[in-house]
Order: sequence, then structure tokens, then C-alpha cells
Amino acid sequence: MKPIVTLTLNPTIDLSTTVDVVTPEHKLRCDSERRDPGGGGLNVARVIHELGGESLALYPRGGPTGDLLEQLLEQKGLRRWSISISGHTRENFTVTERKSKREFRFVMPGPTLAEKEWQALLDSLSSVAADAEYIVASGSLAPGVPVDFYARVARVARKQNARLVLDTAGEPLLAAKEEGIFMVKPNRKEFRDMMGAQVDELAALPGLARAFLEREHAEVLVVSLGADGALLTTRQGQFRAQPPPVETHSSVGAGDSFVGGMTLGLARGLAPEEAFRWGIASGTAALLSHGTELCRRADTERLFPLVQPVRLA
Ligand SMILES: Nc1ncnc2c1ncn2[C@@H]1O[C@H](COP(=O)(O)OP(=O)(O)OP(=O)(O)O)[C@@H](O)[C@H]1O
Ligand SMILES: [Mg+2]
Repeated sequence: MKPIVTLTLNPTIDLSTTVDVVTPEHKLRCDSERRDPGGGGLNVARVIHELGGESLALYPRGGPTGDLLEQLLEQKGLRRWSISISGHTRENFTVTERKSKREFRFVMPGPTLAEKEWQALLDSLSSVAADAEYIVASGSLAPGVPVDFYARVARVARKQNARLVLDTAGEPLLAAKEEGIFMVKPNRKEFRDMMGAQVDELAALPGLARAFLEREHAEVLVVSLGADGALLTTRQGQFRAQPPPVETHSSVGAGDSFVGGMTLGLARGLAPEEAFRWGIASGTAALLSHGTELCRRADTERLFPLVQPVRLA
């Protein structure tokens, strides 16, 4: 299997800690902090690696926080390729209240990328992904990056004959789908926004999903539905799967785990509905991990046989 190349425009160091209660003004004495690499594409690369596949993570890196991110990725044994930028890699911050188990997630905007920096990422993608079969672009764009960036990525993918899996939202998603994408994975809200639809009932989703594929240049559409599982639509059929029941610790990273698991399945040559089962198993396995931890292989493999998609069309 060729490495799955992942692209992350706005990576982060996820700093997490725990405190009794969050209150204003007083010093909040926290437990020791934990640092994890984060950002959509980096998470997807980590999931693929955890599940025994090969990934190669491409991302911008700047300042002392960029060096630290590099070390964290090295510790995880991840293959990577970074572009130096003048801004500093961002750090996000999650505080969990011990008593209520509520998570407070502070998300920073990240450094502004200059044109030559985001252009360097695109150029590197052309060389790094020269013989890649799959490219995964995931997460929001960094400040300074044009809204059509993922559309440019789609053009690079097409030129390289690689399949692009895109997990993003809003304008960057709309711009990219005009270029053609192999697979998109919006969640329920992102799908509704993308379709400009008012309806939110589950019953309306299969029809909307089929309408999407009839009109767009895409092969695979997965609408992920959190605790309700996900809906897979291709031109060959439509499947709905429920997640196996699990005890939820943290839903952070469920979406990225889904994308990592499903893309790995596709890259291994599985049919979309089989790869979809790996996506559900990985997304649901992420709930068993605490904090910013992603899915673990043993959990994913244990859940996989319990995922039984039902054919709708
Ligand atoms: N509460 C839950 N119970 C069981 N499985 C879940 C739950 N939340 C998520 N999952 C699993 O993870 C998959 C992806 O979750 P979700 O639809 O929440 O993605 P997302 O909104 O993109 O997540 P993220 O916030 O990580 O980007 C679901 O299809 C499901 O398999
Ligand atoms: Mg998501």
C-alpha cells in the first residue's frame, strides 16, 4: 500500500488539563498538562498509523511551538514533511471540569500564512504525493489562505491521479466540490449548510444525499451523524450504520478517527461499504479514549464486527 498523504493547514499542539471547577478571577489550580499533536490531517495520519497503515503528514511548522510539534510527531513515529513558516504553530487548550465532566475547548486562530508559504505547501503536495493513491485534506484553513485552497488541492490530486478525501466545512468545501472530490464527509450540520437545506429530519437525508451525488463530481458521500452513526451514499448504493453501544469518555476526534479508518479501508482496496464499517468502528472507538486521544487499534478491531450497515437503496 502506498502511504496515504494527509494535509493539515492549521496544525496545533493540544494542551489539556483537568480542574475541579472553572470559576472567574480565582487561580484555577490544574493537574499536570498533557500535550498532543492536533489538527484534522495530523489526527487522520495518526489514526492510519495506529491502525497499521502507512501515512505521510504534510503541514506548516513555525517557531518554538512548531519545533515542539515536530518532537511530538517524532515520538508517535509518524512520517512527515513540514514547510517552514514565519508565524508560530498554534496551541489549543482544553480544560475538563472534574466534577461535571464538562470540557471547555479554547481554539486559537493560528498563524497567518503568507502566499509563498501556502504556495510551498501546494508545491510540496505535488512532489510528496507524486504517486499517492489517496490524499486526505482535513480541517479549517489557516488565516491568509485563500478560500479556494482545497479546490487547488483537488486540481493537484486530479493531476496526480490521486483520490482526494476532504473533511472540511463552509466556503472552502463549496469551492472544492466545484473541482471534483473523490469522497466528502460532512457531519449533519455541515451537510445541511452545504445543501442549503432547511430540513434536519433523519428521514430526509437519504434523498438529499442521492441528489447531491446526481449533481456533483464526487464518488462517495458520507454524512456522519454522531450518536446516530452515519449514512454512506455512492452511485452503487446507499447504506446506514448505527454505532455499537459504548461508554463515552470524550467525543473529541471522532470525526478524524472516522476519516482515518474509512480511508485506510479504501486504500486497502475494500468496497466502500466495508471501508465504511471501519470508519464507524474507528469513530466510535474514539469515544472510548479520554481527552484528545484518538481511536485505539484494539478497540476499533473489537467494534468492527458489531457494525452492520443496512442497505437503503
Ligand atoms: N455519541 C456517539 N456515540 C457513538 N458513536 C459516535 C458518537 N459520536 C460520534 N460517533 C462515531 O463517530 C463518527 C463521526 O462522528 P461525528 O458525526 O460526530 O463527526 P464530526 O461531527 O465530524 O466530529 P468532529 O467534531 O470530531 O469533527 C460517527 O459516525 C460515529 O460512528
Ligand atoms: Mg468533523
